[in-house]
Amino acid sequence: MCVLNLGKARCSLKTKKMLAIQATPRKHGKVASMLDTAVQQGKSCGYDTVVIDLYEKNIQYCTGCMACRSQGRCVIQDDLPGIAALLQESDLIVLAAPTWFANVPAVLKALFDRIAGLTMEEGPTGIPHGRFKKEQKYMLITACTTPFPFNYLAGQSSGCIRAMREVLHTSGMTMAGKVVLSGTKNKKQIPEKVLNKIRKIVRKSL
Ligand SMILES: Cc1cc2nc3c(=O)[nH]c(=O)nc-3n(C[C@H](O)[C@H](O)[C@H](O)COP(=O)(O)O)c2cc1C
Repeated sequence: MCVLNLGKARCSLKTKKMLAIQATPRKHGKVASMLDTAVQQGKSCGYDTVVIDLYEKNIQYCTGCMACRSQGRCVIQDDLPGIAALLQESDLIVLAAPTWFANVPAVLKALFDRIAGLTMEEGPTGIPHGRFKKEQKYMLITACTTPFPFNYLAGQSSGCIRAMREVLHTSGMTMAGKVVLSGTKNKKQIPEKVLNKIRKIVRKSL
């Protein structure tokens, strides 16, 4: 953080933090490439950027003990505390996952289940309240084989986006944007239009 002392005015220019979460096992696939586009744009916008590959992390399954609801953190000791700290301090979270059975890959669902108590608290009636700030933003990226418009008609892309949004929206964060690449079976390259949309969302999130 840089602090400028201008007489009485004290102005702090805090570097914004971006957390890029790669929830795909295909390190050179389209989802990974789209995430990388967001990361490169983030860096050129001055974001302090961290990338996490969930497939390189030890994330155990939630046991449903509910201790996190009161403690605000999970009691299982694995790689989660490090990821949780990054989630809490990020100004922009970019979440990239392929569409698998109209949903997210299991590793991402495991993360979602484990951060329930971190992202929300339950009121006396059981209604959840987000623990994150509305100034924190999130961006969603996915890709699927089904071509447009069948990816929406059959609920493929919408199912995956809904699963990702459910957690981040409930946390209290604000959506910066979403990018869906459909029909990947017959697309050798990611269209420039899609990459530009990713860049624009990152730029506007500042
Ligand atoms: C287990 C599994 C389930 C999948 N389920 C769907 C699906 O429900 N709908 C769909 O259109 N594509 C589905 N796909 C295809 C992927 O979404 C598609 O290949 C996507 O482009 C993967 O991202 P990548 O190009 O980065 O590898 C599935 C692939 C796998 C491996």
